[in-house]
Amino acid sequence: MKILLTGADGQLGHSIRKKPPSEGQLITLNSKEFDITDPVKTDEIFGIYKPAVVINAAAYTAVDKAEEEEQQARAVNALAVKRLSEKCRQTDAFFIHISTDYVFDGKSDTPYKETDKINPINIYGKTKAEGEKAILRSKSHFAILRTSWVFSEYGHNFFKTMMKIGADKKNLKVVYDQIGAPTYGGDIAGAISALIKHRDKIDGDIFHYCGEEITNWADFARYIFNEAFEQGKLPHSVEVEDILSKDYKVAATRPKNSVLDCKKINTLCDIKLSDWRVAVRKILSENY
Ligand SMILES: NC(=O)c1ccc[n+]([C@@H]2O[C@H](COP(=O)([O-])OP(=O)(O)OC[C@H]3O[C@@H](n4cnc5c(N)ncnc54)[C@H](OP(=O)(O)O)[C@@H]3O)[C@@H](O)[C@H]2O)c1
Repeated sequence: MKILLTGADGQLGHSIRKKPPSEGQLITLNSKEFDITDPVKTDEIFGIYKPAVVINAAAYTAVDKAEEEEQQARAVNALAVKRLSEKCRQTDAFFIHISTDYVFDGKSDTPYKETDKINPINIYGKTKAEGEKAILRSKSHFAILRTSWVFSEYGHNFFKTMMKIGADKKNLKVVYDQIGAPTYGGDIAGAISALIKHRDKIDGDIFHYCGEEITNWADFARYIFNEAFEQGKLPHSVEVEDILSKDYKVAATRPKNSVLDCKKINTLCDIKLSDWRVAVRKILSENY
């Protein structure tokens, strides 16, 4: 069984390559080898590899830049996703698409369930929501996996940004009025592997997968800095000062609540949620 992975050089792409699905042969294609916005290339790639499973880890992920580049974001996050899902339907491939908590507005007081109404509040979220809707319409055999606050040893993410800043600075202001559950890329790779294993029980469905413990950005930063200092990976301790989102100017508005309710995948696939504290300690000890 051939499993095609798009966006293979991205953060999650790397994590999946490091921890490939437990069955099948993983074929990895980066954005140069397979630009998912190219219809001719899409036909060609499906023709060459005839995948039984397609994992779409390719996305336009520059959340702030998307506010000015709506068309570019839509081309990757919605139009290409529509084409991929239709291609999967035509070829009977199981389509696993990665989506985001940013399809929600973050106004809920409780963790978001798969059935909750989506209402994106920025362009990135809007284009990801359009991608989801196109998959739902495609009638392909699919699983949409929504995750949040992804970090890992690869690519660009909050953990790596904190480690870069912490190497130079002893004080930092971090937003504390957005809550979420950080999710380790390696654990998402495990969740994807579980979805593939249980694919016969999945008939076009959305799943949530994130960290098991809720935090906010400032406390997450504190944990990273404290662990890094204790492990001798930073030359000094770093003091984190809480600030409000309104005092941290960025182009795109973020949801206040990014927490996802993950009971559904937990029950279907019997997998653990992401233990981000363990993952932070592991990345620090193995990569710094
Ligand atoms: N990061 C998070 O916190 C987070 C949270 C929730 C959900 N997600 C979702 O998780 C998935 C993976 O995100 P990530 O963190 O791994 O992002 P990432 O590191 O930015 O990776 C995205 C990859 O997609 C590739 N790509 C962009 N346009 C493409 C195209 N037209 N054709 C083929 N590949 C293309 C990029 O390649 P280039 O670099 O060459 O452009 C990059 O390698 C995405 O669906 C994202 O929406 C992420």
